[in-house]
Amino acid sequence: MLLNIENLTVEVEGKTILQDITLDVDEGETIILFGPNGVGKSSLFMTLMGFPNYKVTKGKMTFRGEDLSKLSIAERATLGIGMSFQKPISIKGIKLYGLSELINSYKDNGDKIKYYAEVLKLEQFLERDINLGFSGGEVKRSEIFQLLLQNPRLSLIDEPESGVDIENIDILGNALKRLLQKEAPRANRRNSGIIITHTGLILNYLNADRGYMLLDGQLTCCGNAREMFEDIQKRGYRKCLDCLKIR
Ligand SMILES: Nc1ncnc2c1ncn2[C@@H]1O[C@H](COP(=O)(O)OP(=O)(O)OP(=O)(O)O)[C@@H](O)[C@H]1O
Ligand SMILES: [Mg+2]
Repeated sequence: MLLNIENLTVEVEGKTILQDITLDVDEGETIILFGPNGVGKSSLFMTLMGFPNYKVTKGKMTFRGEDLSKLSIAERATLGIGMSFQKPISIKGIKLYGLSELINSYKDNGDKIKYYAEVLKLEQFLERDINLGFSGGEVKRSEIFQLLLQNPRLSLIDEPESGVDIENIDILGNALKRLLQKEAPRANRRNSGIIITHTGLILNYLNADRGYMLLDGQLTCCGNAREMFEDIQKRGYRKCLDCLKIR
């Protein structure tokens, strides 16, 4: 097992936002996380990455056999967790190329930076300050570009396609397929990912192993990601809440 989350309960500013989350991700798996606005999806990623506002009050997170709560953000990244943010910050004074050199896991002479910049149509952005003045779609391409260079064992991908036009979704979808090694036979895949999506468009590019529904800080349902998304489209998240009440 690559990632093991057991009964994880998390507080932000004294308020419980995740409750008793239990979730396993195996090597090579792709998981889709669904859920309406404000239920704690991004908070789960922030907690896994180790952002200090997210306080674990109960439960355990283990990644490659290591207890994550004992590790800093940098140590978690070095161990192989990467994240593309829903709303990443801009960093004035640091060029995208400079960051790319730091995070490039291929340790080549910059060939992969050039290559992935081409794949994500970011050649003209490498000498710009990170995200400063980038359009919504450009920010998302830059996030996935950074993940491709890091090539993490576990990618936490928060709404990669929100605000992205059709042609750029194509670029992002194909880049994610590459990141999660979808072209390799299942047994040879070592990269895993958890993807948060509201539009479901990403499912047109890659198959997921499972989908989960997060409602009010709790994982309530697990199943076939495509079927779950079709249900959400037909009935909306409201029906999920009704289903919970029946249970
Ligand atoms: N740093 C913070 N300080 C205060 N409240 C926070 C913080 N981070 C998250 N929250 C609150 O936790 C709840 C869950 O937020 P989160 O961003 O995880 O939702 P989400 O499921 O990702 O929603 P969306 O689909 O809109 O992105 C929200 O009510 C949010 O306001
Ligand atoms: Mg979010």
